[in-house]
Amino acid sequence: MKISIVGAGYVGLVTGGCLAELGHQVMCIDSDADKVATLNAAGLPIYEPGLQELMTRNRAEGRIHFTTDMAQAVEHGEVIFIAVGTPSKEDGSADLQHVLAVATQIGRHLKKFKVIVNKSTVPVGTAYRVQKCLQDELLKRGIQESLFEVISNPEFLKEGAAIKDFMHPDRIVIGLDDSPNYKTVHQKMELLYSSFNRHHARTIWMDVRSAELTKYAANAMLATRISFMNEIANLSDLLGADIDSIRRGIGADQRIGHDFLYAGTGYGGSCFPKDTRALIQTALDCGSQMKVVTAVENVNDHQKTLLVTRLIQHFGEDFTGLKFAVWGLAFKPNTDDMREAPSLVIIEELLKRGAQVSAFDPLAALEGQEALSDKLQDSDVLKHFNLSETAYEAAEDADALLVVTEWKTFHHPDFELLTETMRQPLILDGRNLYDPQMLQDLGIAYQGIGRRNQLALNFKAGTVRKQAEITA
Ligand SMILES: NC(=O)c1ccc[n+]([C@@H]2O[C@H](COP(=O)([O-])OP(=O)(O)OC[C@H]3O[C@@H](n4cnc5c(N)ncnc54)[C@H](O)[C@@H]3O)[C@@H](O)[C@H]2O)c1
Repeated sequence: MKISIVGAGYVGLVTGGCLAELGHQVMCIDSDADKVATLNAAGLPIYEPGLQELMTRNRAEGRIHFTTDMAQAVEHGEVIFIAVGTPSKEDGSADLQHVLAVATQIGRHLKKFKVIVNKSTVPVGTAYRVQKCLQDELLKRGIQESLFEVISNPEFLKEGAAIKDFMHPDRIVIGLDDSPNYKTVHQKMELLYSSFNRHHARTIWMDVRSAELTKYAANAMLATRISFMNEIANLSDLLGADIDSIRRGIGADQRIGHDFLYAGTGYGGSCFPKDTRALIQTALDCGSQMKVVTAVENVNDHQKTLLVTRLIQHFGEDFTGLKFAVWGLAFKPNTDDMREAPSLVIIEELLKRGAQVSAFDPLAALEGQEALSDKLQDSDVLKHFNLSETAYEAAEDADALLVVTEWKTFHHPDFELLTETMRQPLILDGRNLYDPQMLQDLGIAYQGIGRRNQLALNFKAGTVRKQAEITA
């Protein structure tokens, strides 16, 4: 089938690459000429495991092309996906400017019937607005005929495992309303995704509004699990209980399950924060309130500052003269995506309190530095931030090491080397990677999120001191 995909970002490129891999003829279009040039020069503007190989193979076999030309893309695809960004507006609602601009551009070039599939995460009612933009453009050209059907097909892939998620979906949600085109569109979409329905039907058909809301409900549910576990972890810290035992204890209940029960420094990324905000705003627009989701967001905002709060408890409010190492910048492993990463909140707070920060990320170092410069508007404190070539270099002479992203490469560090090279062997483990007892045995002051046996208790006995006091 001939497919066009508007927006060559994380979702667009993965969708395009995977559909090409299934044999479809794919054209990806993006308004960013630099991105398209990179793609046409066999590069990739983002990192996603396995995507480069997928692109190389399908480019070579002529099944995927990249362009900035909307007329060409509209002409090409029988099915046209919209996969552009829907960031937060200031009030938290989803900014639909890119989605609606794309609808208008498509409308300008429509000559024959196309299925317009909205893959971007959008509030309920957006399909209708897309339809209106398309219709207006057709009317401007004097075309009365209905040359399109707008449907919803939200995307559930996870960055870092996006290809696997796309190729082995738990479900494919398609929202399609009753219309004269219903049968044609249903058949086309069944055919498009038939590879995924061979073993058993994974497509869940519903009306468009329900499909639009399904995506927000899914992300809000996942975010809720994370914030819930973070609250239980924080309570565990107060009570001397262990969140990891609790996680296993509740995850074994089949009604709960083991996934998404990890306590940490809060969720970030391009989806959960903006989608929970948008859902809250959608409810407010209807005169209602999402009380649970609002609490989820508040808990998360608090959780992002937890490691800094702990440092304040140990070192005081002023971090002047202290050096902190940060391991991990990306919002999660296996991605270079820095959108709403907890590391940005943590590093900003450390720098503003006068600390020197050395950070290491195996993949997102430059993206992290760029995101930090944007956030801090090139403020003076940035001169106290530097990227390190290795994790150990970052930790040299550090007064504490903060583990912020659970990259595999951080799972088994050389603790002896850390003890020798850090100014004070103190690890704040924001992802609960290490065994508290083992670190205690090694003489490393350790604090995880909701873990028992924390040598952190020893700081109170004075093992951790400010550098100024050490040198005095
Ligand atoms: N990233 C994820 O993990 C993920 C997962 C599921 C759903 N989503 C949703 O999918 C959508 C896309 O997310 P993303 O992360 O791929 O975004 P992204 O920012 O990585 O990519 C969006 C792309 O759209 C392009 N674009 C913007 N306006 C355009 C226009 N008028 N014409 C052509 N191209 C245009 C941008 O240049 C950019 O390359 C969002 O609504 C997001 O919420 C994202």
